[in-house]
Amino acid sequence: MSPVSPALPPVDARPDSPADSPADSRLDSGLGSPAGAPVEPGLLPLTAEIRPEGLAVGGVLLEQVARQHGTPLFVYDEEHLRSRCREAVAAFGPGNVAYAAKAFLCTAMARLVADEGLLLDVASGGELRTALYAGVEPDRIVLHGNNKDDAELRTAMTAGLHHIVVDSFDELERIERLHHVEGLPPARIRLRVAPGVAAGAHEAIRTGGHDSKFGFGLADGAAAAAVRRAAASSAVRLEGVHAHVGSQVLDPAELADGAATVARFAVGSAAGIGVGGAVTGLTVGGGLGAAYVGGQQAPSFAVWAERVRAAVRGAGWTGRVGVEPGRSIAARAGLTLYRVGTVKRIPDVRTYVSVDGGMSDNLRPALYGARYEAFLPRRPEAPRPQRARLVGKHCESGDVIIDDAALPDDLRVGDLLATPVTGAYGYAMASNYNKLPRPAVVFVRDGRARLVVRRETEYDLLRLDVAGEGPQRSAPDPAAPDLATSEPATAQRGA
Ligand code: LLP
Repeated sequence: MSPVSPALPPVDARPDSPADSPADSRLDSGLGSPAGAPVEPGLLPLTAEIRPEGLAVGGVLLEQVARQHGTPLFVYDEEHLRSRCREAVAAFGPGNVAYAAKAFLCTAMARLVADEGLLLDVASGGELRTALYAGVEPDRIVLHGNNKDDAELRTAMTAGLHHIVVDSFDELERIERLHHVEGLPPARIRLRVAPGVAAGAHEAIRTGGHDSKFGFGLADGAAAAAVRRAAASSAVRLEGVHAHVGSQVLDPAELADGAATVARFAVGSAAGIGVGGAVTGLTVGGGLGAAYVGGQQAPSFAVWAERVRAAVRGAGWTGRVGVEPGRSIAARAGLTLYRVGTVKRIPDVRTYVSVDGGMSDNLRPALYGARYEAFLPRRPEAPRPQRARLVGKHCESGDVIIDDAALPDDLRVGDLLATPVTGAYGYAMASNYNKLPRPAVVFVRDGRARLVVRRETEYDLLRLDVAGEGPQRSAPDPAAPDLATSEPATAQRGA
């Protein structure tokens, strides 16, 4: 067995300064592997290795994992995840990195990032519940959200989170009410600022502009007013400010720009608003992009940290700087395995290759025009001269995974096919469209495949349907005990 290529770069060793790699952050940038070339090793997880029988990750053959756990399947290289966590902590310092759980979260992932010493950034009650269930210490959790409800804030304040990132005056009021009326302890908070700097690969994932649902505007004075108000409130302990400019940003200059703007505000609020001691924390968000297709390059954590540090120092900020990477931790660590079901050749038009998943496990192409690559794990180094549209099994033509995929010539029905770099916002945005059960998730490491999220069954899909609304025509599934315990329809009707 041999590594994918002796030159397989460490995760972060790609050319990374914008000076040597003109970063192109547009999703439809026209980049991609040269015609017919095999998939680039830089798109595969860190421990990927080529064996005579095919590609192995984490010491396990992908064919074997697929046989054992079925398809579609999310496979994560645990070593890759861990090494990304370590690189981020090495670049920004212990206590300064919170993993943005929205990119990919399950109990095992929450545990992994906590073990690696990262904080966990959650953006809903459900993510918070998962983190607490996984045993993450509450004071290692940060809560986000532009419309947190009473229940989410109540859980956060009662548990005593590391801090809550407050997004609006309405939220401040809710926290004050929970403190004064329900007697909940004061919340440690940072204020989310809309810095007027929007970056990112698609309109939908740019968050930091002035015209944004997120945060207190800098330009209209809302941010300054929020600092004054929070500093005077007994319901909160104002500890810092926060900004996040967008996601899938490949140019570190854009991330540095956002950081400088919020740092200038933090320094200015400390001095000008007379709350000098209060604003001690600065979070500059996540947003660092990942390379999805050949020819794309993502900056390293080290470069991101260097650029951000220089930017905030230039703005007069001397304190710590926190970040919240999601995609850059999880994206390249994960890949999706599908089984090819049909190949349809339309003369003079195109070929359609259909797999057993689709937009329900990877919404990003349909939602953002995001681009991916595909390869056959049995022949990862094969040239890919064939062009085809890689599609899923959903009942709509928009169910496209790769519009114009480069594929090996000998691809055939029954083949296992992999799309790399699906570790972020793939499973996280998965749905049950067309009542497809969501895939299983497996972590591979040291020759072992560990199931961390089981595959949904068709009976799981009936879990929430209220019994008695129709005849039960099939026997309860032993894998879905919740259905087995619900009353049979006949009993409900009083028969
Ligand atoms: N912090 C905040 C406040 C955020 O809003 C986000 C992402 C992050 C951190 C993590 O950003 P990352 O490092 O992953 O870029 N579903 C979209 C991505 C939406 C990201 C929104 N916020 C996608 O599939 O591209």
